[in-house]
Amino acid sequence: MVEKIIDEEKQGEHIVLTQNPTNTRKLYIESYGCQMNFADSEVVASILAKEGFNTTNRLEEADLVLVNTCSIRDKAEQTVRKRLEKYNAVKRLNPKMKVGVLGCMAERLKSKFLEEEKIVDMVVGPDAYKDLPNLLQEIDAGRDAINVVLSKDETYGDISPVRLNTNGINALVSITRGCDNMCTFCVVPFTRGRERSRDPQSIIEEIQELSDKNFKEITLLGQNVDSFLWYGGGLKKDFEKASDMEKATAVDFAKLLDMVARKFPKLRIRFSTSNPQDMHENVFHVMAAHKNICKHIHLPVQSGSDRILKEMNRLHTREEYFTLIDKIREILPNCGISQDLIAGFPTETEEDHQDTLSLMEYVKYDFGYMFTYSERPGTMAARKMEDDIPEATKKRRLAEIIELQRSHSAYRTKSHLNTVKEVLIEGTSKKSDAHWMGRSSQNTVVVFPKENYQLGEFVNVKIHDCTSATLIGEAIGLSENN
Ligand code: SAH
Ligand code: F3S
Repeated sequence: MVEKIIDEEKQGEHIVLTQNPTNTRKLYIESYGCQMNFADSEVVASILAKEGFNTTNRLEEADLVLVNTCSIRDKAEQTVRKRLEKYNAVKRLNPKMKVGVLGCMAERLKSKFLEEEKIVDMVVGPDAYKDLPNLLQEIDAGRDAINVVLSKDETYGDISPVRLNTNGINALVSITRGCDNMCTFCVVPFTRGRERSRDPQSIIEEIQELSDKNFKEITLLGQNVDSFLWYGGGLKKDFEKASDMEKATAVDFAKLLDMVARKFPKLRIRFSTSNPQDMHENVFHVMAAHKNICKHIHLPVQSGSDRILKEMNRLHTREEYFTLIDKIREILPNCGISQDLIAGFPTETEEDHQDTLSLMEYVKYDFGYMFTYSERPGTMAARKMEDDIPEATKKRRLAEIIELQRSHSAYRTKSHLNTVKEVLIEGTSKKSDAHWMGRSSQNTVVVFPKENYQLGEFVNVKIHDCTSATLIGEAIGLSENN
């Protein structure tokens, strides 16, 4: 699982679904990077469905190719550049085909994209998707088109996303956009703009629609979900200027989570991502109060060294992180916890690296997403610090982190042996057609013989074996949640 995750930005996605018989043009859209990009592509497909486009999974027949891009590490950008080469080859056979770049690379490179990559006709930043109908008119008329304006209030709350490549069971629901945290290594605040929250009413409406369509699990998405704050619209940073009435009726993340859990008792609810400096105990109490909120927290820490955390502008110490972990263990004894870690941030010493390993020993995460530091142009770290850790050292430290994580994952999965887990069936196991695959509340993958159970059912599974990342068991009956 760990290796797969390291390569997360490699996974492009081909998309088919929801066809409108009166639509005549064909859209091929693929997404790279974080879940937010996958959710955004569903918004884009919805906007373009009204412009006469059905989606296709065959690049060769596309009238319009859109690639939703990731800038988080250099490797992610290189992956997209390679895809553009592939589009170029296809365009030689299909010269009418137009190509648009969406997402974080579009925002970061702006018009440079049009200059550097001849194949690109259109560049659209993450807040400009509603302008696509106008931009399409431009490219249809043979002109290049670009809109990379970032917005203070766009949340796409009024757009009902077309669900792409769906299993009909799990869906993503975005609740915030942008990020104000300004971690010094991170490009997201530059590519996705200032943080803003979506109207809870529109969030509930979207979830209602999913529930009506028989979806079983939703993930509330944001770069920093714990920072969610709705007071009638506007930027998070302007909350101080809100009226007394707006302040009194404001909805924070704990309240939102509680609202959603109460209103949809049959839906499983997950959320991602949490930031330690913004996460508060009240969220743990809401999680404890509702059976349908999954007991898993993705809580990136990036480093175990106080000095490096400070250089990263992560606004908490190692001790404060431990206090938060202790609180989780106290209030939610069976909660799965996962991490993001960066090896080889500028100036990182062997001692700092050891601090990361010892922090991992303390938490013993269930799983994690681990990376070597990649300097991103324009970030504070790139401007103020030299990328001074040799690549070989970064890789060696990363390997040590991954090895330790592997042993912790094995420790965690073993602890589930001989217990019964409630599993939502999400699909067929990749390794065996005779087995279902699903996840436990803690987000651990579980596989078991299919028997007569069906996709989308909640099943109680007795665990009798495991690998370092997967639990293996046998169903003992449907859970009462169906
Ligand atoms: N809050 C976000 C974090 C986005 S970036 C979220 O929703 O997940 C995801 C992870 O990528 C970060 O937690 C960090 O571990 C890693 N990352 C970000 N910038 C990076 C960089 N410049 N080099 C290496 N890893 C980076
Ligand atoms: Fe990036 Fe830090 Fe925000 S990692 S997305 S700036 S919380």
